[in-house]
Amino acid sequence: MPHSNASLEELMNLGITARRHNEREKALEHFQQVILKYPEHIPAYVQARTELQKLGRFDEASQYQAQVLDKYPQEVHALMRDRPGRINVLSKINQSKSYLEIGVSKGVTFNQIMIEKKVAVDPKFQFNYVAQQSECTKFYEITSDEFFRAGTAEVFDFIYLDGLHTFEQTFRDFCATLGMAHKKTIWLIDDTVPSDIFAGDRSQQRCNRLRRAAGGKGGAWMGDVFKTVYAIHDFFPQFNYATFNNGHGQTVVWRETRKDFKPHWNCLSAITNLTYLDFLDTKEAMMNLATPKEIMARLKDSLEVENIEE
Ligand SMILES: C[S@@+](CC[C@H](N)C(=O)[O-])C[C@H]1O[C@@H](n2cnc3c(N)ncnc32)[C@H](O)[C@@H]1O
Repeated sequence: MPHSNASLEELMNLGITARRHNEREKALEHFQQVILKYPEHIPAYVQARTELQKLGRFDEASQYQAQVLDKYPQEVHALMRDRPGRINVLSKINQSKSYLEIGVSKGVTFNQIMIEKKVAVDPKFQFNYVAQQSECTKFYEITSDEFFRAGTAEVFDFIYLDGLHTFEQTFRDFCATLGMAHKKTIWLIDDTVPSDIFAGDRSQQRCNRLRRAAGGKGGAWMGDVFKTVYAIHDFFPQFNYATFNNGHGQTVVWRETRKDFKPHWNCLSAITNLTYLDFLDTKEAMMNLATPKEIMARLKDSLEVENIEE
């Protein structure tokens, strides 16, 4: 095997260098060598998993994640940098067996989720889902409203909301899924922290047009999903939430009465009319920003199976 005498640091550096040159297979090979030689070096699993994701080899990426979850549970926060990593780690807390994802697109997250029963909803899947359909993995090529309208008796342990990025739609997705939940269901709402004033606009077209006009690049669009968190703050005293203080702006929601509950805006139309600057002004006070470790600890305290009365 090449580089068999290389040190851990050398192998990791070789991997990072190969990645910089966009040599993904080579980078993967280096990280896999580290895993073989130093199986307790968790960053190598994280990096190998990233390469596999980029190569579209989602099953293998999930296997690395499963290995870390099984063998080094104290290291799981290292896996929580991306969406599937977060969901796979958080869903262990309530031992999720069923998963609903609203807004699935290419299936980058959905296809890496290691939960037994999975349901995907999207008006236009960006991958060939037909071959993947089974008793345990279901695809509904419709909007979330159509999905709710059709009615379902299914109840989900984990619900990921990442559909249309407007307040009304995401708030409705949250409200509608309350009827498909139980006491220990965990929600993850994506795109709750707009990355700039353009990303926080309700219209994706306007966001892109105005950002380009201002000389900006990139296509980040979170819309005004943050208002969903504010509406939960003001109108759902029996639900608690926390927002990851890094990465994609995601908020975890779970059932736990907030003892200090007090509405802040006390008015849905006031929340509807908030601007991006209002968001910046209230973000620290209202979003409950926390590290992945803190979020895990809070969820564990609140939801771990033995702590919850049926
Ligand atoms: C950001 S992408 C989802 C990414 C995906 N969750 C992931 O993590 O890989 C948003 C998706 O929401 C879908 N979408 C848009 N309007 C929707 C609606 N009304 N109901 C459900 N999904 C919708 C879009 O088609 C798009 O594929």
